[in-house]
Amino acid sequence: MPTPTDTDSTDSDSPDADYTVTPYDVEGDIDYAHLVESFGADALTDAQVRAFPVDHPLVRRRIFYAGRDIDAFTAAARADETHSLVTGRGPSGPMHLGNVLPFYFAKAVQDATGAHVYIPFSDDEKHLLKDQSLESIAGHTRENLRDVLAVGFDPAKTKVVVDTADADVVYPLAAAFSKAITQSTVDATYGDPETVGLSFYPAVQTAHLLLPQLVHGRHATLVPIAVDQDPHVRVSRDVAAKARYEVNKPGALLSEFLSSLDGPGKMSSSSDAPSIGLSDDPDTVREKLHQHAYSGGRSSLEEHREHGGDPSVDVAFQYLRFFFEPDDDRLRDLAAGYEAGDLLSGELKDAAADRISDFLERHQERRAALGDLGDELDAYRLTDGERDAALSRAGYPMDAVVRG
Ligand code: TRP
Repeated sequence: MPTPTDTDSTDSDSPDADYTVTPYDVEGDIDYAHLVESFGADALTDAQVRAFPVDHPLVRRRIFYAGRDIDAFTAAARADETHSLVTGRGPSGPMHLGNVLPFYFAKAVQDATGAHVYIPFSDDEKHLLKDQSLESIAGHTRENLRDVLAVGFDPAKTKVVVDTADADVVYPLAAAFSKAITQSTVDATYGDPETVGLSFYPAVQTAHLLLPQLVHGRHATLVPIAVDQDPHVRVSRDVAAKARYEVNKPGALLSEFLSSLDGPGKMSSSSDAPSIGLSDDPDTVREKLHQHAYSGGRSSLEEHREHGGDPSVDVAFQYLRFFFEPDDDRLRDLAAGYEAGDLLSGELKDAAADRISDFLERHQERRAALGDLGDELDAYRLTDGERDAALSRAGYPMDAVVRG
């Protein structure tokens, strides 16, 4: 029986919008509320924030501002039933602050609830999408893996999957799921991909999003990710709804983008705007903030003292709000001081630089303490039994002589 699809109308760049958001392209001045509406996701409610299994600034402050099926995840986590998070990385360059936040969020959830965390690396996607050789992408994959491992996930509960390195499981799953994804869905959702590779890739990301359930059996999965990835979630939900797979539709927790230093928009490693890298030292962080961070302050000291600044557009303040000042009272004091003109733009930047540098120093210490990448990764790879379970739940016969 045909299942209703929720991927038919996906157009964020409708005639009345002056921005484009697809997984393959983010441009313009994003209207986040409008975007979620056009994607068909739900705004996050107060009740969902209160019930969420961890009290985290990204949720409490509505940086994660929308989602799909969040209640099912919350209920499973609270009932101590199997539940999982999937958050991946497209290794197209060195990771910056914005890229690493979903991983630290996933770690916080895992610490609180024992969630399984699945971390797919879409090296295939980034080779297809960017003008970069396989060799260059492989280099970023290795470096990004070290950053992800530095977050400190529990190896007993965490799986890292690299598309080209774990192709024995990723490819058969993607091939099976690709049959349930039509070309017209892909065109409508991703805006006419240029190559067959990019047309096929949604089947690969669907494999990522369904993988925890294929390994552990049907359960609630949540994908905490920036809103540009929601189309992938929708496609995976359509596939999950097909009767032949014993899986629930993955849920989503969708965030705004951490803005680039020069103002609102996606903090992209491929734009010209500077971004704060995970290997930046304190002086570099301070200098980047002072030189490049868009300020909500007034143009002269006198004016600032008299009229105050605007924290809502101030990039240093927004970094503190997103993640780096977890204490709500202190955040409120900073905003109040800035609005009153007592706190100067440079002082706000110093506060942000301090917090960000503290965070980075701890990240860098854990990263430096890692040994050989292959050895470290071993603890996080799918076992043979898990690979077999996933293929079998996707419908592959396990007695095939050609395997192994
Ligand atoms: N496509 C994502 C990106 O471009 C990376 C990614 C791959 C991912 N698989 C995922 C993100 C699964 C979340 C969940 O950044």
